[in-house]
Amino acid sequence: MVTDQVVQTPRVWEDLRQEIVGCDRCVPVLDGSERPYIFLDNAASTPAFRRVLEAVEEFLPWYSGVHRGTGFKSLLATEVFDAAHDAVGRFVGADLSTNTVIFTKNTTECINKLSNRMNFRPGDLVITTMMEHHSNDLPWRKNASVLHVGLTPDGHPDLQLMRKLLEQNLGRVRLVAINGASNITGICSPIHDIATWAHAVGAKVFVDAAQLAPHRPISMLADDDPRHIDFLALSAHKMYAPFGTGALIGPMALFEKGDPDVVGGGVVDVVTLETAVWNRPPHKDEAGSPNVVGGIALAEAVTLLESIGMENIAAHETALLAYAYRRLKAIPGLQFYGPTEDLSDKVGVIAFNVEGVHHALAAAIIGTEGAIGVRNGCFCAHPYVKELLHVSPEDDRILAAEVIAGNKSRMPGLVRASLGCYNNEADIDTLAEMLERIVRKEYKGTYVQDRATGTFRAKGFSPDFEKYFSFVRLAAGRERRHSEAS
Ligand code: ALA
Repeated sequence: MVTDQVVQTPRVWEDLRQEIVGCDRCVPVLDGSERPYIFLDNAASTPAFRRVLEAVEEFLPWYSGVHRGTGFKSLLATEVFDAAHDAVGRFVGADLSTNTVIFTKNTTECINKLSNRMNFRPGDLVITTMMEHHSNDLPWRKNASVLHVGLTPDGHPDLQLMRKLLEQNLGRVRLVAINGASNITGICSPIHDIATWAHAVGAKVFVDAAQLAPHRPISMLADDDPRHIDFLALSAHKMYAPFGTGALIGPMALFEKGDPDVVGGGVVDVVTLETAVWNRPPHKDEAGSPNVVGGIALAEAVTLLESIGMENIAAHETALLAYAYRRLKAIPGLQFYGPTEDLSDKVGVIAFNVEGVHHALAAAIIGTEGAIGVRNGCFCAHPYVKELLHVSPEDDRILAAEVIAGNKSRMPGLVRASLGCYNNEADIDTLAEMLERIVRKEYKGTYVQDRATGTFRAKGFSPDFEKYFSFVRLAAGRERRHSEAS
């Protein structure tokens, strides 16, 4: 439950802002001045929590490889790394006596791994939806036949159709793979209802929680609960811990069976010239020296999120989202995608277009003149964006041919602003003021589009990156040496 105390104390959220690494950074804008950066691209990647950075710094003097060495540092690192797995499992309410937590690079790697480890047989079906990120679509297409549940006119997956497909394909559907929340419209799937329908026909459920885990409490529930989530994946870089870790959680029994998809060090108990005997999960599926630092960072992040309270975060972000829509809907000429009124089943993602302004141009102006980080395009979910924009199959073919010919200038797309738990009303106000300027054509720059990438750049805007991060100098030097040598 949301406590009155937290909701009525905005100070908590202002304090949390101090917890964000880089929240105070100023960046160059077109007129040559510098402005505080407003980060509204949290659906892509969040900045790091300061506490996560501190945990990494505290750990590094003790850093050592895990599960191999006999020295004290290796023993300590092993203890901490194993505990990090458990912390992530607890965060999503998994029963750790029957489920395993496998650390990977990110959600994409998790889904590829699960697809490779499901041991699909010819004819097996995976049901997914038109609302998915490519990561929750393409890995299934590689190993099984995939059915895509279409959309209702308001951009939700058609759940009646999903139920019909489950019944029509009785005995063939091995898995229903759905995202917990869309990276484009923020729409949340009723994951526990879908689990009930899938289990009733003998299928399992996978939830891509990349966009859900940072914003809502999650419980995979007890294994014998019909509403139970069988498999779930998440990414630390969307959870304030961008140190290269993802987590796949699922039944130990499944990962005990079969061969790991990546083999090498760490995955075996014994190897002879003829055979290899696999280690137990999760080691069996974490080939090579694992990312110990990334695992610890993720565990620290979920510990902090839990201490803030995921219900509190949900309430705060929903209130901010409602404020954002009130503010942005008052601007004429903005078109929104996904729910804007009933925000009960939606995380803080705002997808829009400015009438008469290319999505890439709007995003470039917002960044270059407003110092605001947003994203534009199709967001690794091309089928969904094209459905939302009603791109006809004929136009889709023409546009695809243009892209293949090296011209992305007419690629359809949207602009996306996405909230994190530390954003505030002032961030939204800054975005709204910038959008008002765009609508009134009061932006200052002259923007030129690069046909190959589709992106726009303001003439005369060439920021001195070296001034902001010294490594750029090294990279630039390397490039120069490379081109001189060739
Ligand atoms: N999937 C991430 C996004 O939506 C990268 O931006």
